[in-house]
Amino acid sequence: MNNFSFRNPTRIHFGKGQIAKIREEIPADARVLITYGGGSIKKNGVLDQVHAALENITFFEFGGIEPNPHFETLMKAVELVKQEKITYLLAVGGGSVVDGTKFIAAAAEYPNDPVEMLPTKGAHIRSALPLGCVLTLPATGSEMNGNAVITRWETKDKTGIFSELIRPAFSVLDPETTYSLPPRQIGNGVVDAIVHIVEQYMTYPVNGKVQDYYAESLLKVLMEEGPKALQDPTNYDVRANIMWAATQALNGTLSLGVPGDWSIHAIGHQITALYGLDHAQTLAIVLPAVWQHKKEQKKAKLLQYASHVLGMTEGDDEQRATQAIEKTRAFFELMGVPTRFSAYGLDESVIPAVVAKLKQHGRLKLGEHGDITPDAVTELLRLAL
Ligand code: NZQ
Ligand code: ZN
Repeated sequence: MNNFSFRNPTRIHFGKGQIAKIREEIPADARVLITYGGGSIKKNGVLDQVHAALENITFFEFGGIEPNPHFETLMKAVELVKQEKITYLLAVGGGSVVDGTKFIAAAAEYPNDPVEMLPTKGAHIRSALPLGCVLTLPATGSEMNGNAVITRWETKDKTGIFSELIRPAFSVLDPETTYSLPPRQIGNGVVDAIVHIVEQYMTYPVNGKVQDYYAESLLKVLMEEGPKALQDPTNYDVRANIMWAATQALNGTLSLGVPGDWSIHAIGHQITALYGLDHAQTLAIVLPAVWQHKKEQKKAKLLQYASHVLGMTEGDDEQRATQAIEKTRAFFELMGVPTRFSAYGLDESVIPAVVAKLKQHGRLKLGEHGDITPDAVTELLRLAL
């Protein structure tokens, strides 16, 4: 196990009716901005619960944060923050709303043009407004981390920023808020959380047993419960297990002391930026291709995953490694997330475009060994057509 330091200050309020806890978190004299997306929170009653919790607290609202939140939209919220002298942000929605709100929190206090935060990945953020979150889509882990992924629509660039200062002070996770998710977003959420886990697991062994076994447990939960959520959308225990697993998948614990891959996300972000595919759809396409291309280097962990998570015992090492990849692909398909470009009407013309975007962003040495070069990306994406 490698050295690490760890702190995660986000307080979690988990379970039925926990939206009421917002009241204990936000100062009574705060001027709150509720941020949300396209309106799902109005239809499923979540916004009403938030309003009830904020009784006698001054609040304003900013809706219309789109999936893969746009810099251009978020800057309109920053204007409102300044105009209304907002002191606290409350994100209500999925990962896009939470990420967008993190950006707003930092942009509102940024001394320079906030667009600078994107190429510098948030490195110069020195202060941010406090924020809390009511999560309605288990997927990204944004509710308990310091990451935000922002799209600059004008230039079709999707980039991640990170700062300790944009971690939510608190997050409410009420599994009942997820009952209204459409099947596509249930599938997306489970796939995204699984890919977060394996980006921190499917590398090479460093004898990080706590991290490995923890990752394997979370994978098993998501693979057992994911299909049940599609079949039985209002099963509380199923939703609760998925929601808590997705938070754990990217709240920082799994990556401690172990190598990380993250090539799947780096490549996937370019596909979303260029062609508008959902985040998880891009991951479902890229993961089997990366694993196939890097099968030899990842073999020890592929075999561990085949045994500990998929329960595979038959066949030699080569067969089990190959089957582990194919079973993972089959699981994504089962969750309703297709795993090839062709299923989304895309062909080989995407490959040079994605590679050009990676080069533009300086992402030239991806993966746990830094050997997924632009040429390697070209080769591996051919496996995903
Ligand atoms: O906008 P509304 O009307 O709320 O509808 C949303 C949206 O259309 C809908 N939805 C959310 N909760 C719902 C619901 N519909 C019905 N009932 C509910 N309870 O779902 C749609 C997708 O929402 P979105 O927030 O875009 O999805 P997700 O949570 O998957 O977030 C994706 C974004 O997060 C980024 C992605 O790149 C993408 O931009 N990521 C953020 C990460 C982080 N901060 O650590 C890590 C991830 O790897 C990821 O990159
Ligand atoms: Zn992701």
